[in-house]
Parts: sequence; structure tokens; C-alpha cells
Amino acid sequence: MELSSRILDVVERDKRVFPRGISLKYSPLVVESARKWFIRDIEGREFIDFVSGAVVYPIGHLHEDVVNAIKSQLEKYLGYPIVYFYAREPIDLAEKLINITPGNFEKKVFLGFSGSDAVEVAILVSRAAKRAKYVVSFYDSFHGSLYMTFSASGIFGEDVKRAVLASSDIILVPYPNPYRNPYGIDGYEKPVELSNIVLRELEKIFISRSAEISSILLEPIQGDGGIVIPPEYFIRELGKLCSEHGILLVDDEVKTGVGRTGKWWGIEHYGVIPDLLVTGKGLGSGMPISAVIGRADVMDSYPEGGLGYTLSGHTLSAIAALATLKVIERDNLIERARDLGSYIIKRLREMSEQFEIIGDVRGKGLLIGVEIVRDKVKKTPDKPRTLKILWRAWEKGLILLAVGKYGNVVRIAPPLNIPREVVDKALEIIEESIRDVLEGRVPDTVLTYMRGW
Ligand SMILES: Cc1ncc(COP(=O)(O)O)c(C=O)c1O
Repeated sequence: MELSSRILDVVERDKRVFPRGISLKYSPLVVESARKWFIRDIEGREFIDFVSGAVVYPIGHLHEDVVNAIKSQLEKYLGYPIVYFYAREPIDLAEKLINITPGNFEKKVFLGFSGSDAVEVAILVSRAAKRAKYVVSFYDSFHGSLYMTFSASGIFGEDVKRAVLASSDIILVPYPNPYRNPYGIDGYEKPVELSNIVLRELEKIFISRSAEISSILLEPIQGDGGIVIPPEYFIRELGKLCSEHGILLVDDEVKTGVGRTGKWWGIEHYGVIPDLLVTGKGLGSGMPISAVIGRADVMDSYPEGGLGYTLSGHTLSAIAALATLKVIERDNLIERARDLGSYIIKRLREMSEQFEIIGDVRGKGLLIGVEIVRDKVKKTPDKPRTLKILWRAWEKGLILLAVGKYGNVVRIAPPLNIPREVVDKALEIIEESIRDVLEGRVPDTVLTYMRGW
């Protein structure tokens, strides 16, 4: 597809003003507006948003309940510092979050703006509670872009970490990836065998260093690492291991939360109760808001005043989050995510029988990954073809992204209320795009516009 001069101009200006550190571009999509599950670009073309931006819009773009809640709040005030004064709306949100998160114990809540700041706070609070500085995290994980969260993100290589003098207070361990692991174990067939390898490694670390370790950061489904679903057995045993050794379990639900996986929180699939749970992204339907919901004794271990951001607990964002949670509950969107997710996975698995390059289809609810490989037996990741599929889909009016250590996992994460007919159209485009790539109809030149993870 020819790119218009207006689009090329924005691409150039973006490159000029933004540092390369924030750029993982997938296509020259220049957004003009967004409604429900559609995005319109500056040339007036319409796209199905099959990724909710960066997994941000559980009830679609500009849901009328969110818009109305924001509009009526705009008549009153935007925000006023909860570190100095009082406001009801952020308290309403904190109470709601306490009610819908696992754990029948007293909880307290920190409100921030992004997943990164909330996970950063969870780490700080855990370190204060345990008076121990080390944090255990997993290879291929992503927890954010601030100092400790970047340092704890196993997806970045040693060279990148060295370049920014990342913290060395992190211990990385393998995540039990059933499809692709260095032990040559098929984790779908032998989940316990795979889990035990990692659990034994963790146990060794916990036994020898538990006094130095504050917490372990866990994504219940590894997101940017490639939508990797660990064995249930692993998470259950990990929960027990943490309790035995007094290590705080920090559940990073920034991507998996607010109903996306067919439960309020991804960890609920495994029946484990975390000490701290972190949410963000979809919580505010696009308004910046995140939260740490945690055991009151742990949350209160941070010294007075130290966690108070100027705009933390911002009323307008809290209002958007309350409206979002209400719609998810009222419209039964959690069950819908489960049903629609099963339907999409079934359709994609049918496609995988047709196409040798679909190595694995996995997901829970509406967080789904399709792993693109050169062939099913060797499982060699195929990033160039993955990107070409994304490009072709974009040309045909569908927005997709790719994640994973090798950049070869197509991520599907539409709004939970996307209609079935729109999903069917999207799946049709995916099928056509794969065929077009396999038949050589997408040139290598398109890769110059795409970087990805
Ligand atoms: C699991 C997880 N944690 C933390 C973050 C960081 O969130 P944010 O980019 O909103 O700061 C992300 C973002 O992708 C994430 O997926």
C-alpha cells in the first residue's frame, strides 16, 4: 500500500522528536479517532482494534458510561491532592478494588498512573516490609520502564541492562514455558515435570537467601514474553513455596487484570492468593490509572509520606475506572471474555491445521497468542513473517501486534465487548493475511517500517 505524504510526514516528525527508547512501532498507523472497537486513521480508513491499543480498552474506546462519568466530573473538579486532603471518588475506587481482589484479609490500596509506577511501588513496599532488597523475577518477563521495574524485566538482555546501569538487586529465574523451554520438555504433556525443574531452582534460592529476598514478581500469564501460560501446578506450588519461605508474592496483573482472561484477575485461574496485586492498563479505559492492592500490614510498612505522588488518586481517572468496572460487571463481560476467547482459540487452532507456520495457539479469555514458526517440528521462530502478517492485516483493516522473546507471537486482545461479527471479520483477515504472506504477496520492504519487540 502506498503511504500518503501526510502519513510519512508524521512518521518523520515522530522519529525526530521521540527517543528510540520508546519506539517499538508496528505499522505507520496515524490515529485520528477511535470508537468502540474501531480506529480511524488520518486518511479516513477504518481498522478493527484487535489489540485494544496496548491491552488497554476492556469496554472499547469512548464507552458512553465512561464518557458520561468523565463529563459530569468535569463540571465539578479534576483532582485534588489526596496526600494533603480528602476525596470520595478515589476512596470509592479503592474500596471496590479491595472487594474484587482475592484474599480475605485487610487490604490497602496505592493509586498511580501506569503499570510501571504501581509495580515500582509494590517492589518498594515489599522491600520495606521485609527489610530485604532482592527481588526475584522471571526471564522474559516485563514489569515496566522505571528503575526497579526495568531492572526486574527479564525480557531485556544484559547489554541493555548494563547500558542504563540497571539495579543488580534482581535474581532472574526461568518461567516454565510449556511450548518452548531449554529443557526439551513438552510442558503441555508433562506440566509437573517442567514445573518441578523451575520450582527446584527457586527452592534452592529461597533456602540459601530467603533473608535477603523481599518478593517475587509474577505475571500469571507472561504477556510481552509471548502470552505464555504456565502450568497450573507451577503457580499453585509457587504460592506454597512463597508462604513457606516468607517471600511476598507480587502478582502483576497489569495486562491480565480487569476481566481480560475470563476472571477478574489472572491469578484466580490457579487459586493462589497473592500478598500484593498490581493492576493498570485497562482499569481506566484509557485514562491513566493503576493500583497496588495489598495486605494492609505490608502496604503500611512503607514510611509515612514516602508514597505520596502529587497527582496520585486523581479523581478523573478514578471516575473512569469506577465506570469501567461497573460496565464489566453489569454486562457480564468476564464470562463473555471466556466464551469469546474459547471461540477465537478454536478458530485459530483450525487455521493452524492448515498452516505449517502456526506453531502454537494459546490463551485465556481474550488474551491470546499465536506463535509463528518456520515449521511445526523445529519451532524456529519466524519474526519476519510474523511482521509481514501484521502488515498485511493492517492493510486489510485489522490492527494486530506481535510480542515474545523472538517477536514472533501475534497478540490478540480485543475489547471484551467486541461483537461476534467483528471478530469473524478479523479472523477472516488473519487467515487471508497468512495466506498472502505464504504466497509471497507481501514484500520485504514493508519491514523497514516495523520494529516490534
Ligand atoms: C505485566 C506488565 N507489567 C507492567 C507493565 C508496565 O505498565 P505501563 O506500561 O503502563 O507502565 C506492563 C506493560 O506492558 C505489563 O504488561
